[in-house]
Amino acid sequence: MNRDALVLIGSPKGIEKSASARVSLVLTEPLETAGWSVKRLWLYDADEDELLTSILSADLIILSSPLYFDSLPAPVIRRMEVVVEKRRRTPVEEKAPRFVSILNCGFVEPKHNETAQRICRRFASRARFEWYGSISLGCAGAMRRRIRRGLIIAGEALSKGFPVPPKVKRLTKKPLIPRLAYIVGGNVTWRRIAKKNGLSKGDLLAQPYKPRP
Ligand SMILES: Cc1cc2nc3c(=O)[nH]c(=O)nc-3n(C[C@H](O)[C@H](O)[C@H](O)COP(=O)(O)O)c2cc1C
Repeated sequence: MNRDALVLIGSPKGIEKSASARVSLVLTEPLETAGWSVKRLWLYDADEDELLTSILSADLIILSSPLYFDSLPAPVIRRMEVVVEKRRRTPVEEKAPRFVSILNCGFVEPKHNETAQRICRRFASRARFEWYGSISLGCAGAMRRRIRRGLIIAGEALSKGFPVPPKVKRLTKKPLIPRLAYIVGGNVTWRRIAKKNGLSKGDLLAQPYKPRP
């Protein structure tokens, strides 16, 4: 088995500072320990030729992206379209690369990623990649113990040529904090940011586009 993994980062924040990059590092650690070479590309500025050649030489492709409006960031979708179009016109390889998607969203419930995961799965099928599973994270990919464990279990399985095991979903699907705590915490943060910018709590409740009676 060849051991070349390609990580595609779909966050505009880049390959170092984004949550997408951070969670992908935990997933690829077991791969690197097992001797895989891991290449990272930032989808926002990757050269198109480099992207396509990297895909050709990869045995495993990992897309790690944030959720944007229940979907993927527009530049990620654009890149997906380019890849599908290109691969539609090229002969099928003997061994299609395996494909895994990790999506992280801002809300506590990882299930918000479900529609976007279906988009990823469809992309994998259209691009003739072998679907090897998905991981959905909430709370902006916050790295608690059970999330880290899930990512490591997934990385170990992938490093041995297996898909993401069902156990990973069991570890990652439950929200990390109660919904109410998230709302209260979110409100405190919004008020703090508003104050820092010279705005009041009342300004936060403004509804300038609300239709007038
Ligand atoms: C334009 C935009 C749209 C977003 N849409 C959603 C959304 O629909 N649901 C959600 O839970 N989080 C949403 N988020 C939050 C991001 O998914 C979340 O902050 C994520 O952790 C960012 O990951 P990154 O650091 O890799 O970019 C959105 C953020 C932005 C900037």
